[in-house]
Amino acid sequence: MPSVEEAMRDTPRAGYLPEGARGLAQIDAPVELGHGSTCSQPSTVRTMLELLDVREGQSVLDVGSGSGWTTAILARLVGPAGRVLGVEVVEDLVGQAADRLRRDGLGQASVRLADPAVLGAPDAGPYDRILVSAMARELPGQLVDQLAGDGLMVLPLDGQLVTVRVEDGRPVVEPAPGWYRFVPLRVRSPRRARGPWSRGGGPRGGAS
Ligand SMILES: C[S@@+](CC[C@H](N)C(=O)[O-])C[C@H]1O[C@@H](n2cnc3c(N)ncnc32)[C@H](O)[C@@H]1O
Repeated sequence: MPSVEEAMRDTPRAGYLPEGARGLAQIDAPVELGHGSTCSQPSTVRTMLELLDVREGQSVLDVGSGSGWTTAILARLVGPAGRVLGVEVVEDLVGQAADRLRRDGLGQASVRLADPAVLGAPDAGPYDRILVSAMARELPGQLVDQLAGDGLMVLPLDGQLVTVRVEDGRPVVEPAPGWYRFVPLRVRSPRRARGPWSRGGGPRGGAS
């Protein structure tokens, strides 16, 4: 399977940006997609995907698929034997991302319109990996419930990137170094965080 670096290189960001913004593809910064959404900063995407440790053949949920760029990179990481489902609350972005994935022949990936009252896509789970590209204020229990037994989730939580695993029925949350800004995760009826998590700190960070 490709490394994260190879999968990102094989998925040029310019092809996932609106026509007028393609000149910004090489800049390590978020790019506006309209509707209050952004295509995430490449260095942040790389950090998140390295933390996510995706394996060939896995089932992956991409929450906040936006432009479809992360969905496409994930599709290359899981390969044709895997599957990636992207969910996004902005309908226009769903259509654009679906067109781009089709254009790039990534049949193992699909995107659908999310219902913000139902985080993720529980009907198609559980998932080996869940990537969340919008900032949660609290650990989203609805997404934790969609993880497979040995699954792993990466999300921005209250300013930090964290990994989440479930051990003995409880979520174990570990922060990565750095502080990050993301667009907010839209949650209509959040559940309370169910597990302890701690803050770390560090020099790295980014905006998405
Ligand atoms: C940083 S942006 C898009 C990043 C995307 N992965 C990309 O590479 O273009 C995060 C996205 O999360 C979406 N979003 C926010 N809350 C959501 C929710 N509850 N379910 C699905 N998508 C959500 C926003 O509409 C936004 O498009």
